[in-house]
Amino acid sequence: MEITGKTALVTGANRGLGRHLARELRDRGATVYAAARNPASVDLPGVTPIALDVTDPSSVAAAAAQTENVAILINNAGSSTGTSLLTGNLANARLELDTHFFGTLEVTRAFAPQLAAHERSAVLNILSALSWVSFPGSGAYCAAKSAQWSLTNALRQELAPQGTRVSSLHVGYMDTDMTRNVTAPKSDPADIAKIAIDGIEAGDAEIIADEVSRQVLAGLSAGVAGLYPQLA
Ligand SMILES: NC(=O)c1ccc[n+]([C@@H]2O[C@H](COP(=O)([O-])OP(=O)(O)OC[C@H]3O[C@@H](n4cnc5c(N)ncnc54)[C@H](OP(=O)(O)O)[C@@H]3O)[C@@H](O)[C@H]2O)c1
Repeated sequence: MEITGKTALVTGANRGLGRHLARELRDRGATVYAAARNPASVDLPGVTPIALDVTDPSSVAAAAAQTENVAILINNAGSSTGTSLLTGNLANARLELDTHFFGTLEVTRAFAPQLAAHERSAVLNILSALSWVSFPGSGAYCAAKSAQWSLTNALRQELAPQGTRVSSLHVGYMDTDMTRNVTAPKSDPADIAKIAIDGIEAGDAEIIADEVSRQVLAGLSAGVAGLYPQLA
């Protein structure tokens, strides 16, 4: 998939990984809509800010109506509330699903007609190593990332007939606001953005961006005993 000359839209493009993705697309010659809840917070030169709250259906519809020619859609916007499923606030658990699962679904539905207008188009969903493994302290986030993974696999098949390739990106910790309290090693989101756009260019269905994700993916075949040895 050629990036130069294409029109792309990135959700949550005002900061974190989304800002790096927008910059990378811009630098490779794409026309970029940088979507954000507050478009005034988009400070990247050379992109077009647009208002988009992925949890608000009217905002999603308005963004689709205000844009044209989108051939690359990146569902990047994400929340992380650090909510336990057993004891945490259920409203936070719903927010995680509204953002990662329903938000990605709503945005993809809204932009599918624009994507279909191209012979070839692309959707990239920003997933996580936590789509595959869960930690109790952030069980709500992990469940939402897992649901977003299943959604991605359904959309791959549903969008293929219209020429839209759906890719997923799996990564462990990146150094963004989302992980400001995490002391474990973190990737540079600028590097992950490059890997992500390389993956779209190559037409990769699954983009495994770091070693943590590679290890967790390899561990899936070992089942619960492999992923959660503490339960043995
Ligand atoms: N950081 C990590 O370690 C890590 C690892 C794996 C995967 N990921 C995934 O990577 C993606 C980007 O995360 P990040 O690390 O860049 O996080 P971040 O720095 O916290 O940025 C989150 C972005 O999502 C936006 N957002 C949140 N809720 C939104 C909504 N309802 N509508 C539109 N935009 C919304 C935020 O906008 P506001 O400025 O308006 O809040 C912000 O632009 C997420 O999908 C996350 O799950 C992150």
